[in-house]
Amino acid sequence: MVEKLGLDRRSFMKGAGVTALAGAAGTVATAPNRASAQNSISIPLHSNGNYDFDTPYNRVGQNTSRWDSPAKLYPEGVFKYGMGVATLDFECAPCITEALQERVQHHSWGYMSSQDGLIDGIVKWNGERHKIDIDPNSIIISAGVYPGIIAALRSFARRGSKVLLSTPTYSGFYGIARNAHVETVDSQMRYINGRYEINWEDLESKMTPDVAAMIVCNPNNPTGNVWTEEELLRMGRLSLDHGIMVISDEIHSDFVRAGHQYTPFANLPDQAVVNNSVTFNAISKTFNLAGMKNAYFYSKNPILLERVNQNHRADLTTLGVVANEAAYAEGAEWFEQANAYIDGSHTFIENYFRNNIPNVGYTHNEGTFMTFLDFSDVMSSIGAEERYMENDHQSPEHYFRDWLVYESGIYMNPGSSFGEGGAGHMRMNTASSRIVLQEVLDSLAAAVRNV
Ligand SMILES: Cc1ncc(COP(=O)(O)O)c(C=O)c1O
Repeated sequence: MVEKLGLDRRSFMKGAGVTALAGAAGTVATAPNRASAQNSISIPLHSNGNYDFDTPYNRVGQNTSRWDSPAKLYPEGVFKYGMGVATLDFECAPCITEALQERVQHHSWGYMSSQDGLIDGIVKWNGERHKIDIDPNSIIISAGVYPGIIAALRSFARRGSKVLLSTPTYSGFYGIARNAHVETVDSQMRYINGRYEINWEDLESKMTPDVAAMIVCNPNNPTGNVWTEEELLRMGRLSLDHGIMVISDEIHSDFVRAGHQYTPFANLPDQAVVNNSVTFNAISKTFNLAGMKNAYFYSKNPILLERVNQNHRADLTTLGVVANEAAYAEGAEWFEQANAYIDGSHTFIENYFRNNIPNVGYTHNEGTFMTFLDFSDVMSSIGAEERYMENDHQSPEHYFRDWLVYESGIYMNPGSSFGEGGAGHMRMNTASSRIVLQEVLDSLAAAVRNV
């Protein structure tokens, strides 16, 4: 693989030695002993009683997509830092583990009776935090945002029609579209004064009669935009005028940074726009419950909702429901602190790039726990554009992903997976202990500063 990347093995090993030590010292790269103390409700607290997100929580060896999948891609052992898949590296809120432990005391796992507790939690969470009044009868529980959106596309977009995306946006939308047998149309955003902005002329020009739906990612993964009411209204109005139905994916809505405001699409002050939409959400990002398979969707328009529901079926698990109910009911304080910690980490990362890695472009983040980094200068210095095809990589960014692992141990997601506008970029997950982030940034700086 090293040879395939066109790297000199000797210089590669020299560089890797430094970061290997750093990784071991930071406890993130060692496999845990399964019988070790990590199975108790051990989340550490600071002396002031706050949750301690600094002490790294080792997820290696627990079949985690973020840490164990990249390790398989690089069997030589060069992988050290899982900065890709959008899950949190924090130990989950104690109320979740407690609720699960209580439920496993009852040793029977037949079908569940009702989802009322869950629906109650969803209504309260959205009402209290986001000032949105959701009628409990308009909520449909699903096993994930992903299968929910597939059902919506199957309902509104006939085979071969199109779904519009404002890009760069969540890579999973391309898989969702394939599953629903529709094509995607990208409208690339503009990068203006350090912020991604919708290219309104381009967006409207792509609202052709064969476009059946638009997916709005609110807030947007990976660019971190928290869309304003004005922006959402304009997207909604344009969609309505062109007979396009809006699918609003709000899975990142709880992660909003100080100074920004999440606007639920269903709260927009234009009833016709709202009635043309279905919203998909979950607290699986909020509380790191993605493996618990639980999400929901709702609409202010009962006809739209019923149409989606006809193509939808949710198979939930008892433990998933228990975990989600506990998070809604008792997790708010843990989340407040986790969100504040991530806010601080974004500032830490922004300063680090500005002061220490000036040859990588940083975009100020408004929400989500992702950051979208511009590596085009570095990629051009190492000849990623010329080399990726000869090395059978899918794109220059996939070549660069591997280059980065070999040079620094850090695994990030290639920008090209996020649609038009992703070239030259990589997505980095920031939801880790700041001790780990420091190691990652130091390793990154050492790898890219002098290319
Ligand atoms: C914007 C967005 N939508 C949906 C998903 C996947 O949601 P789920 O796991 O509920 O299917 C993700 C996961 O990263 C995401 O970032």
